[in-house]
Amino acid sequence: MKAVTVPRFGGPEVLRVTEVPDPEPGPGEVRVRVFAAAVQPADLAIRDGWSPPGVTVEPPVVLGNEFAGVVDRLGPGTEGRRVGDEVLGFRLLNCQAELVTVDAAQLVAKPAGMPWEQAGSLSASGQTAHVALTLLGVGPGDTVLVHGASGGVGTVAVQLARAWGATVIGTASERNHDYLRELGAIPVAYGEGLVERVRAVAPQGVDAAFDAAGRGALEASVELVADRDRIGTVVDYPAAERLGVRGLRAPRTAERLAELVRLWEAGGLRLEVAEALPLEKAAEAHRLVGTGHVRGKVVLTA
Ligand SMILES: NC(=O)c1ccc[n+]([C@@H]2O[C@H](COP(=O)([O-])OP(=O)(O)OC[C@H]3O[C@@H](n4cnc5c(N)ncnc54)[C@H](OP(=O)(O)O)[C@@H]3O)[C@@H](O)[C@H]2O)c1
Repeated sequence: MKAVTVPRFGGPEVLRVTEVPDPEPGPGEVRVRVFAAAVQPADLAIRDGWSPPGVTVEPPVVLGNEFAGVVDRLGPGTEGRRVGDEVLGFRLLNCQAELVTVDAAQLVAKPAGMPWEQAGSLSASGQTAHVALTLLGVGPGDTVLVHGASGGVGTVAVQLARAWGATVIGTASERNHDYLRELGAIPVAYGEGLVERVRAVAPQGVDAAFDAAGRGALEASVELVADRDRIGTVVDYPAAERLGVRGLRAPRTAERLAELVRLWEAGGLRLEVAEALPLEKAAEAHRLVGTGHVRGKVVLTA
């Protein structure tokens, strides 16, 4: 099969689409023929030489933590699954390939009407947003500030917080303000003067802040939110430690993903795909994500 491979650490130019052996599903696993698998900032970091907590990544490595596709082979002990099931899911690495093997219990059925590109871009950023808002205790009556609201994580965070009953203020550059309004957020430009701009649109005060942007978002948040337990980041863990706010981490689960899929089915979750490119254009996808200004997600199609 073909797979997006990092043969040695470096910039986007090191990426190769290589032929690698087809993976075989082990006990409790199925194999999925991948139609779409999105690129995350984490893929760029791994390509550069970073390893996620708890693992050591050594090249050659196949990138990708989320996918959508069709089950094409069953391992032993996967009675609930059928060849031909349309699914979406997640695993650490190996998703940006024509085939991926995955724990059958972690798959979620893809709604028939959900486009493949959207399905392949939901799990990682969607679950990150879900984890963050859950840990910050976001609920009815809250006013929540989402930094980086127009990115892949922010797009889901804004809509989830709205679905859970919160008023949402989202930061982005001007060009994304209409987009944020469509998602249900009050848009505010980031940068110099952010704290004053947020105060102006939230005279009631801000109850919680979620940082999906870094770059000073936490420093602004501690000026706006009284309770530091209700400020958290998925970007800047050292700053979280320094400021006494929360570095947000929790496991991804099929239950979380299924909840996001249900929200999509109910019409409450718009998934924005800025660009869909074939696996062969992985380097171009990395350059796009590397700008830090993608609206929603960049997806690779196999
Ligand atoms: N820890 C975890 O488990 C985890 C998991 C997933 C993602 N993450 C992290 O979460 C962050 C967000 O990821 P992402 O996938 O949403 O993509 P991203 O590429 O980081 O976000 C792009 C968005 O950020 C906005 N942006 C750029 N500079 C900003 C600033 N100074 N303030 C506010 N917004 C700004 C851009 O809006 P404009 O174009 O309008 O500027 C763009 O829409 C990344 O740092 C990623 O590494 C962490």
